Amino acid sequence: MKIGCVKEIKNNEYRVGLTPDNVRAYVAAGHHVYMEKGAGIGSGFTDNEYVDAGASLIDNAADVWHLVDMMIKVKEPLEEEYPLFRKGLILYTYLHLAADRQQTEALLAGQVNAVAYETIQEKDRSLPCLSPMSQIAGRLSIQEGAKYLEKKFGGEGILLAGVPGTPKANVVILGGGTVGMNACKIAVGMGANVTILDVNLKRLEELDNMFGAHIQTLVSNDSNVERVVKNADLVIGSVLIPGGSTPKLFKRKYLPEMKDGAVFVDVAIDQGGCGESSHTTTHDDPVYIVDGVVHYCVGNMPGAVPRTSTIALTNATLKYGLQIASLGLEKAAETNPAIRKGINAYCGKLVNANVAKAHGMACEEI
Ligand SMILES: NC(=O)c1ccc[n+]([C@@H]2O[C@H](COP(=O)([O-])OP(=O)(O)OC[C@H]3O[C@@H](n4cnc5c(N)ncnc54)[C@H](O)[C@@H]3O)[C@@H](O)[C@H]2O)c1
Repeated sequence: MKIGCVKEIKNNEYRVGLTPDNVRAYVAAGHHVYMEKGAGIGSGFTDNEYVDAGASLIDNAADVWHLVDMMIKVKEPLEEEYPLFRKGLILYTYLHLAADRQQTEALLAGQVNAVAYETIQEKDRSLPCLSPMSQIAGRLSIQEGAKYLEKKFGGEGILLAGVPGTPKANVVILGGGTVGMNACKIAVGMGANVTILDVNLKRLEELDNMFGAHIQTLVSNDSNVERVVKNADLVIGSVLIPGGSTPKLFKRKYLPEMKDGAVFVDVAIDQGGCGESSHTTTHDDPVYIVDGVVHYCVGNMPGAVPRTSTIALTNATLKYGLQIASLGLEKAAETNPAIRKGINAYCGKLVNANVAKAHGMACEEI
């Protein structure tokens, strides 16, 4: 198969769909890879590394789109890329179509066969191409929190770990899923006092088994949240109710009772946030202060570390991409139900039930 990869054109997006190591894997499996010149620069991969791995370099993105059977990207195509759609082209990328009617219609009109990373789902219900980004956001949340606790950013001016003879910081994590567990790991590693809250007792038991005496687990309810945030130096918001709206656990009335210069990192902001005082911010202007509490609410946190994010993402996407390339989309979907779940649009029809429901459109069988 002819595989293509172009530079992402979305604002502040530095990730890339293929690393040189991925190119090597596709070439070894007998495929041809066409890279737009400079596509990997934002993630620190040079054109020479791609050529050494066996890719052909192409001067402009449009030529790559025209040439290939499967386009591998990171973000959804933008409007200026829609005219490059064509019948039968396989598009393999994050799409998030439920929130984007215009793109959904463009993919259907262009008869593109679109495979969305976010809907690839394994038998155990895990979402293998989404979880690396949650792992990154979780780990980064503590790193960013530690930074904004510094005085010059409006923080309390404390070190998470303290030093012998000084208090350690109190870190409170609301939601102990993938983000929360990864935040916990870094906070424990940095030597902070960590309290983690979840509504799922089974999950709290797992966390307790994982971290033992290093953390305090608590069931999540209003009384416990209010009690622990009063003494918190850093609060991480990492709650998710799949398919539902994020509960606003972190109430505005708590803010005046908190320490001046405490930091709240609302990782769940991409689903509306779990703080009443949260609104989305960007990497260019990541924080704002309400009642003395520094709020960090960046919706695409992994964008801060594009090299790690690219490697983590492609570690997950390569396996399915290779199957599609080697078997063809139809056979790959037949052989691997996770890939079937990834297909959102096929031959001009919507074939993902959730996307169809979101737009009030019909969901067809493949
Ligand atoms: N901002 C970013 O860049 C970024 C990146 C990745 C993920 N996220 C977001 O982070 C959030 C968490 O993602 P995840 O992968 O960890 O999800 P997850 O499903 O693995 O974990 C969510 C956890 O929240 C718990 N929960 C539900 N209701 C709760 C409540 N009332 N109190 C306490 N806990 C509760 C669940 O039991 C679960 O353990 C999601 O909204 C996700 O979209 C944001």
